[in-house]
Amino acid sequence: MKPSQEDKAALPVDEVYHTALETYFDVHRKSLENPEEFWNEHANIVEWYRKWDTVLDSSNPPFYRWFKNGRINLSYNCLDRNIKNHRRNKAAYIWIGEDGSEKIVTYHGLLKRVNSLASALKNLGIKKGDRIIIYLPMIIEAPVAMLAAARIGATFSFVFGGYGAGALSERINDSGAKLVITADGSYRGGKIVELKKVVDEALQSTSSVENTIVVKRTDSPVEMVEGRDMWYHELIRGGNVFVEPESMDSNDPLFILYTSGTTGKPKGVVHSNGGYAVWVANTLKWAFDPKEDDRWWCAADIGWVTGHSYIVFAPLLLGLTSILYEGSIVYPAPDRMWEIIDHYGINLLYTSPTAIRTLMKYGDAYTKNHDLSSLRVLGSVGEPINPSAWQWYYRNIGGGKCPIIDTYWQTETGGFVISPSAGLGLPPLKPGSGTFPMPGIDPVILDRNGKEVKPGEKGYFVIRKPWPGMFLTLHNDPERFRSTYFEKYNGGYYAGDYAIRDEDGYFWLLGRADEVLNVSGHRLGTIEIENALVSSSEIAEAAVFGRPDPVRGEVIVAFVVIKDGFSTDQEMGNRIKKRIRDSLGPIYVPQEIHFVRNLPKTRSGKIMRRVVKAVALNQLPGDISTLENSVSVDEVKDAIDTFSRETGTEGRKGAVPE
Ligand code: PRX
Repeated sequence: MKPSQEDKAALPVDEVYHTALETYFDVHRKSLENPEEFWNEHANIVEWYRKWDTVLDSSNPPFYRWFKNGRINLSYNCLDRNIKNHRRNKAAYIWIGEDGSEKIVTYHGLLKRVNSLASALKNLGIKKGDRIIIYLPMIIEAPVAMLAAARIGATFSFVFGGYGAGALSERINDSGAKLVITADGSYRGGKIVELKKVVDEALQSTSSVENTIVVKRTDSPVEMVEGRDMWYHELIRGGNVFVEPESMDSNDPLFILYTSGTTGKPKGVVHSNGGYAVWVANTLKWAFDPKEDDRWWCAADIGWVTGHSYIVFAPLLLGLTSILYEGSIVYPAPDRMWEIIDHYGINLLYTSPTAIRTLMKYGDAYTKNHDLSSLRVLGSVGEPINPSAWQWYYRNIGGGKCPIIDTYWQTETGGFVISPSAGLGLPPLKPGSGTFPMPGIDPVILDRNGKEVKPGEKGYFVIRKPWPGMFLTLHNDPERFRSTYFEKYNGGYYAGDYAIRDEDGYFWLLGRADEVLNVSGHRLGTIEIENALVSSSEIAEAAVFGRPDPVRGEVIVAFVVIKDGFSTDQEMGNRIKKRIRDSLGPIYVPQEIHFVRNLPKTRSGKIMRRVVKAVALNQLPGDISTLENSVSVDEVKDAIDTFSRETGTEGRKGAVPE
C-alpha cells in the first residue's frame, strides 16, 4: 500500500518550533527497556493508599493488569490531596456559560460539592460497583458527578448530550445502571436542548433505573415522576458533609465509555482507576508541559474520552486551572473562542481540527481583535489535521511561537499515544504528523499479513506492548475485547487506524481502516446508522458511508431502498432524518439521503457498501467479481448525479484536495 499525496502531506519544517530532543528519546528508550523501573517511578505522580505488589501482571493476556493490588481513589487524588497544599483556594474550574455567566470553583469548593453529591448518592443506596449514567451538558455538575461516583466507587458511564433516546437506553441497558443524573436542558448555539425529555423516553425501554437526579439549568418545563425523579438542588441540601473516599483496587473499573465499532452494538470501554490515573496525568505533563499557574482549556465535550481524561482527571490530578465552557464556539459570534482566550489569558489550548477549520472559514477578521499572546502551547485531537489548518492554527492563533501538539489516541487508549512531548523535548514539527510515541508506547505499522511495512508505506497501526492507560475490557463482552483488538496481530493491540512512518521515524495517523466514520471528530459506526434506518417501517435496505468534507472531515451519506407503496420525496427524507435525530441523536443525521431501487449486493445477498461508496465518490470500486446486480451501480451513479444537479454540488467527488 502506497500513501497518496494527501495521506502524507509532508511540508518543510525548518522554521517550525522545536527544542532539544535528547531527553525525549532517552525517556522513551528507558520506558521500553525497563518498564518495571520506569512505571514504579512514574506511578508516584498520584498518591496511593497502598502501593502495588507487581507493576504489570501479564499472566492472562490480553487482560493486562497494572499496579496489581495497589489501592487508590481518584476523587481523593483530584481533590483532597490538592486542598492540603497551596492549591486549596486555587480555581479548579472557571466555568463560562454560553450566556456569558461565570462561576469560579476552587479545589476546596469542588470537594464540597463532590462530598454533597457523594453523600446523596449513598443515601439513595448507590454502592461501590453500581453503575450510574451521567447525561449532562457542560456544567460544573458534570465533573462533580464523575468525581462523586469515583469517590464512592460507583462506575459511571457518561453519555454525550448529543445522543438521542435510543442510544441512551441502549447504554443504560448494557451497563445495567441504577441511576441517571441529568439536567432539565442545556444551552447550545442559543437554543435549549431538553435533556430530561430524552431521559424520560429512554426510560420507557429500560428497567434497571431506580432514580434520576435532575439539575435545573434552563428552567425548561419537565415532568418529575413521583418517587423516581429528584431535583439535584433539593437533594444536596444538608450542609457540611464528608464522605470517606472508597479505597479502590487499581484494577477496579472507574468508568465505562461507549464507543462505536464495526457492528451495530456500541462497545463499553472499561477503564481502571490506577493505570488510567497514572497514564492521563503523566501524558498531559509530558505532552503539554503545563505550569502551576497556567490556564488550560480543553475545548472538547466532557462526554467524550477527551473530556474525561483531559478536562476532568488529568488536569485535576496535576492541580491545574481548567476552563469549562458550556456552549458553541461560534455563539453568539465566530470569535467566541478567541474572546475567551483573550479575556481569561489562556495559556494552553486543546481543540479539534474540525473546530479549527470551522473558525478558519470565518477568516482572520475575528482573530485580529483579540490578544492571543497568552497562548504558549496549542493542541489538536480527534482526527488527522490537514496541513493548511495546521498552518493557520500555528501562525494565526499561535503567532508562530506555540508548538502544535497533535495528539493521536482513542477511547480505548485512555490518553495520548502518539504526540510531540513539549515537556520532554520537541522534534521539529511536521504539519499533520503526531511525531513520536509517548513513553511506554511501542508502536509498529504492519501490512495485513502482520509484516512490518517499509518507511513511507501505509499499513495498520499496532501497539506491541501494554501501557498503563489501556482499557481493562469491554463491559459484558471480554471475548469481543480479545477478538477485536488483540487477535489479528500476534497479541499486539490493533487500533483500527491506518498509519505511515516516514523516513525520519515520524508517525502519520491517517484515519480509520474499518467501517467507522469520523464526523467532526465524533466516532460513528456505519452499521449503527444502517440499523437505525432499516428499523423504520418504510425502509427495506440501507448503505451508509462517509464523504470527505473540507470542514468536518467526513459527512454521512445514506443510500436507502424504500419499500413499495411509500414515496421517495423530500418529505420522506426529512422524516427519516427526524427519526435518526430522535433515536441515535443529532450527530448521526445523514447529510444526504439518496433513494434507489436496488443496492449493489454480493450473490449471497450482502450489501456491498464499499462499492456504493466508491461509485458515489467516483473512485475505483475494487474487486466487483461477486457483484450480483450491475444495474444497481448505475442507479447509485444516477442518484448522485441527480442530487448534484439539483443542489449545485460537485456530485461524485472523491477526496477533498488539500
Ligand atoms: O481514527 C483515529 C481518530 O479518532 C479515533 C478515535 O476516536 P475516539 O475513540 O472517539 O477518540 C477521539 C479522541 C481521542 C482514532 O481511531 N484520531 C484521534 N486523534 C487523532 C486521530 N486521527 C489522526 N490524528 C489524531 N490526532
